[in-house]
Amino acid sequence: LVLVLCLSAAEDFDWSANNHDSFYYGTFPNGFSWGAGSSAYQTEGAWDKDGKGLSIWDVFTHKKGKTFLNDTGDSSCEGYYRIKDDISLMKELNLNHYRFSISWPRIMPTGIRSDHVNEKGVKYYNALINELLEHNITPIVTLYHWDLPQVLQEKYGGWQNISMINYFNDFANLCFERYGDRVKHWITFNNPWSVAVEGYETGEHAPGLKLRGTGAYRAAHHIIKAHAKVWHTYDTQWRKKQKGMVGISLSGDWGEPVDISNQKDIEAAERYVQFYIGWFATPIFHGDYPQVMKDFIGVGHFTTRYITQKSFPFNRGSTYFSDRDVAELVDPRWPDPGSEWLYSVPWGFRRLLNFIKTQYGNPMIFITENGVSEKMLCTELCDDWRIQYYKDYINEMLKAIRDGVNVKGYTAWSLLDKFEWDEGYSERFGLYYVDFRNKNKPRYPKASVQFYKRIIRFNGFPN
Ligand code: NOJ
Repeated sequence: LVLVLCLSAAEDFDWSANNHDSFYYGTFPNGFSWGAGSSAYQTEGAWDKDGKGLSIWDVFTHKKGKTFLNDTGDSSCEGYYRIKDDISLMKELNLNHYRFSISWPRIMPTGIRSDHVNEKGVKYYNALINELLEHNITPIVTLYHWDLPQVLQEKYGGWQNISMINYFNDFANLCFERYGDRVKHWITFNNPWSVAVEGYETGEHAPGLKLRGTGAYRAAHHIIKAHAKVWHTYDTQWRKKQKGMVGISLSGDWGEPVDISNQKDIEAAERYVQFYIGWFATPIFHGDYPQVMKDFIGVGHFTTRYITQKSFPFNRGSTYFSDRDVAELVDPRWPDPGSEWLYSVPWGFRRLLNFIKTQYGNPMIFITENGVSEKMLCTELCDDWRIQYYKDYINEMLKAIRDGVNVKGYTAWSLLDKFEWDEGYSERFGLYYVDFRNKNKPRYPKASVQFYKRIIRFNGFPN
């Protein structure tokens, strides 16, 4: 009986129920939270200032040939120096929340608490949190958005090593201790899929390792355990006093069967989705740590692919991709995305949200990332396709809520243009344009700012 009570029910997902309803005019539930997001390495700059230690991204981007034009996040948007300016942009939008991440080596230069806590780094996040709260903006804080302290990589092999679980727990504990009186929404990991696959198997991301075989799976396993450990630390030591929540943010792009009458395609699509979100969500919701259900799941969603059973050689030279054994297709009628990978397929968002509802017992969901990039410069700031993207995706989220999915908040990705990992500055996701060539890194509103502002103001699409 205990087991039955603890485990969330997994219903069958109906693969054939893909309906493309027309635009729905309506508003979101009262209290729905609207926000925008960023992450430390992508926006802060100040990579070697005020006692910060090196992260694996500092080291990776300083090697030649790892990123587009060898771009680095050394200065990026200089967010480290621009707290007040950026909060005034958030006020312009009237955001309810702002999602950012804490750079582990900024506050623990070697990653190890007993070595040294860098009080200047601690102070920066205190200033940011205080300023947000002063302006009635709720901070949603990610503990790990990919910038592992380099020392932990060099000494232990990073997430390949089980000892990361305790180091990460110490780091999280320090954050709860120093910021938890004011921060009530914590995200342990951002997009662990990327960390495991792109960091340890394809090598496109830091630390750039191409471990074949079990490398990605091992990294993911340690991350899931680290998430669980930190969740329990909060639950036992802090929750009573601080009354916050701890979740994880998973990347969930959608995979739709090419041919719904072909069982093989349905199985391939299911494999595709399970190898993304299911890899992490299944152990968390149905595995050893069911209490995590009480908190929330963060979802980052950008795009969709049609999926078919592998029918032609498809091998990215990677164990992970060959284990997944599917072929990805795009519909030639989908509009040109302006980016290699990000096709706008709004209905995929509703499908994913319904999948999460049925598979993981209708958990509380926070959309932690959703948005679209443009390639290269948008000098005129007229990002009509971004407005269309937001309009359609937010509308599909509204339909999902009407389907009974428990979505509590939405985070536009991202507030500013910023360093886009291996793509350098060539892909821009911002609501605000940043002129990276100018050393003052000025920000300018794109047209989508006015659009998103209206959505927030009317809490959706009133008739
Ligand atoms: C997911 C990552 O978490 C984020 O850092 C990145 O900017 C977006 N994907 C867009 O690629």
